[in-house]
Amino acid sequence: MKKLKKIAVLAGDGIGTEVMAQGIKALRAIEEKYQYNFTLEEGLMGGIAIDKTGNPLPQETLDLAMAADAVLLGAIGTPKYADPTLKVRPEQGLLGLRKALGLYANIRPIKAYDKLVGLSPIKNDRIQGADFIIYRELIGGVYFGESGRNKDNTMAYDTMTYHRHEIERIAHEAFKTAMHRKRQLCLVDKANVLESSRFWRETVDIIARQYPKVKLSYLYIDNATMQMILNPTGFDVILTANLFGDILSDEASVIGGSLGLLPSASIGDQHCLFEPVHGSFPEGAGKDIANPTAMILSVAMMLDHFGLHREARDIDHAIDTCMAKSIMTSDLGPEVSYSCSQFGDIVEALILGEEIKIKSLEQANASII
Ligand code: NAD
Ligand code: IPM
Ligand code: MN
Repeated sequence: MKKLKKIAVLAGDGIGTEVMAQGIKALRAIEEKYQYNFTLEEGLMGGIAIDKTGNPLPQETLDLAMAADAVLLGAIGTPKYADPTLKVRPEQGLLGLRKALGLYANIRPIKAYDKLVGLSPIKNDRIQGADFIIYRELIGGVYFGESGRNKDNTMAYDTMTYHRHEIERIAHEAFKTAMHRKRQLCLVDKANVLESSRFWRETVDIIARQYPKVKLSYLYIDNATMQMILNPTGFDVILTANLFGDILSDEASVIGGSLGLLPSASIGDQHCLFEPVHGSFPEGAGKDIANPTAMILSVAMMLDHFGLHREARDIDHAIDTCMAKSIMTSDLGPEVSYSCSQFGDIVEALILGEEIKIKSLEQANASII
């Protein structure tokens, strides 16, 4: 067996553990198919880490992530720690991990699967063929700028700060990706109001000279949120700051049909992490109803990052087959729905080329009774 990469597995909270189990099934299927041997090491992260250690990102987890070739993350956040005024919260662990690993580029691909077009709340002709990718800056901006309150607690502030090099490094990544796609890059900002956005434009304009084949355009964030729904096929690569990218990507999930479909890769110069765009979906936790597609496709993004493209395409292909055969979890609103673990089993079987069991409408109704 070929010894391959070492992967830190941080399942986290809520549906994080459920979708991670399906992601690992897919990875193990790839191992079996190609006789690989990935080393997986689990670590505590988020609410569960607070419960067990008092810290959402224990040193042991950070050490594990630092030493790994990649991190797989499920999701963090629990109702127990949902109160935003708490001093210690699960979200601090995720933000701390991204910062510590230097993961400046968060890459979030969006596409409308043919079979799902009819299930989206948006009109079919608008979303048919939509296929774009968001480059979200991940360790700067208002998430990490100076923040606080004044002494008598009558004022609070968060500052949106960007250094030139923070914009340059992600801009290069976005332009390079645009070169392999439709060669269109749209910078989304609020340059009509914010100085930091004007600085983004100035910096990106200079970098654009190194990529003359890429058509650079600009949209204000307010207009971009509207255009994304009105004309999603008009986008190719979107480059944007941390907070804008967070909001735009959840909105973009409506094009695909569910937040449970969107994977992401977070890349730095030394480390990489792969996680769904969605959170821990506490209302869905423990019910085996979550859509594990985002997690499974995050595993595929990890394999691509390792240069294992054929293996990544095997996973993509299994997901495409599920969609084409209407094998879906309930969030997508199909006639017959599959549980999170059933979906994972089918993806595993498809990767291994095994026969799959498709439920008939009668069987699905019978299992409900
Ligand atoms: P959420 O993404 O967990 O859920 C929002 C809605 O999206 C859900 O109500 C559900 O309808 C749908 N959804 C999300 N994932 C799904 C899936 N896999 N399958 C089917 N439907 C899915 O966002 P939220 O409710 O605002 O936040 C819950 C917790 O998750 C909070 O603590 C938040 O901070 C955290 N969070 C974590 C991450 C992360 O770990 N990267 C990301 C976002 C939110
Ligand atoms: C995401 C999440 C996180 C973010 C939260 C949980 C800190 O919403 O990954 O999109 O805002 O980046
Ligand atoms: Mn988010």
